[in-house]
Amino acid sequence: MPSLLQAAQSQVGRKILTGLTGIFLVLFIIFHLGGNLAIFGEPDAMNRYSMMLHDFGPLLWVARVGLLAVFLIHAWIGISIWWHKQKARPQKYEVYSSKAGPSRQSLSSRSMAFTGVVLLIFVVFHINTFALGDMGTVTIDGQQTHDVKTLVIDTFSNSAFYAFGYAFVMLLLGTHLGHGIWSAFTSLTIKSKKASAMFYSISAVLAIILAVGFLFIPLYIYFGGGCEAALIQCQ
Ligand code: HEM
Repeated sequence: MPSLLQAAQSQVGRKILTGLTGIFLVLFIIFHLGGNLAIFGEPDAMNRYSMMLHDFGPLLWVARVGLLAVFLIHAWIGISIWWHKQKARPQKYEVYSSKAGPSRQSLSSRSMAFTGVVLLIFVVFHINTFALGDMGTVTIDGQQTHDVKTLVIDTFSNSAFYAFGYAFVMLLLGTHLGHGIWSAFTSLTIKSKKASAMFYSISAVLAIILAVGFLFIPLYIYFGGGCEAALIQCQ
């Protein structure tokens, strides 16, 4: 079995590694969106989700550091693929063709390195804001836990910078995923024009659902006035 470093030496190995780490990150993003949408559920639903995470104790931090490591590996290999292509490309915007059909050149594919780097910086800033942020506590089922829901509501309802900044980054997330999910599928599965076209549609739909799901949260809280908003019940 080749090691991570050996796999990262070849362009095919790099594509497989970005595909695998990318799919892992997409699964996390889907799970994370589910947890965040709990803000629109029962008054304590989001804090229950947070309590479930914090019940893992130090293991939560092991998982967070592991997740960050996967983000870094994904970004490092993604940037090296991009760099390799820049060096190998005689002219810009060439039309590529392969067994999987023409390469999907689009704004989404051409901005992968840029959107990826922005997302990586965002994640560090984001963990600092919400996972390490200054928050109060609430009591759920007799157990004291972090009041992450109030922190999220206060952050987005009091600051246009956070609300619109997050919404903008979520658009970049959608752009990144639109090409990224398709690219991961085509790198990891049998190549055919029909499968490639199908994966392209699945990626576009999934990317739109995830981006809209995430950007709805800050914008709705900001324009709805936090706890005043119809879909949010505060305790
Ligand atoms: C509106 C959008 C988002 C909101 C409101 C949000 C909210 C949160 C909250 C409240 C936490 C802390 C959870 C806790 O400690 O209980 C958290 C953690 C985290 N978020 Fe987000 N998040 C958003 C988007 C994203 C996106 C797009 C990504 C990745 C690209 C992301 C990655 C992470 C990571 C890696 C953590 C640390 C792991 C964890 O605690 O689950 N978040 N987020």
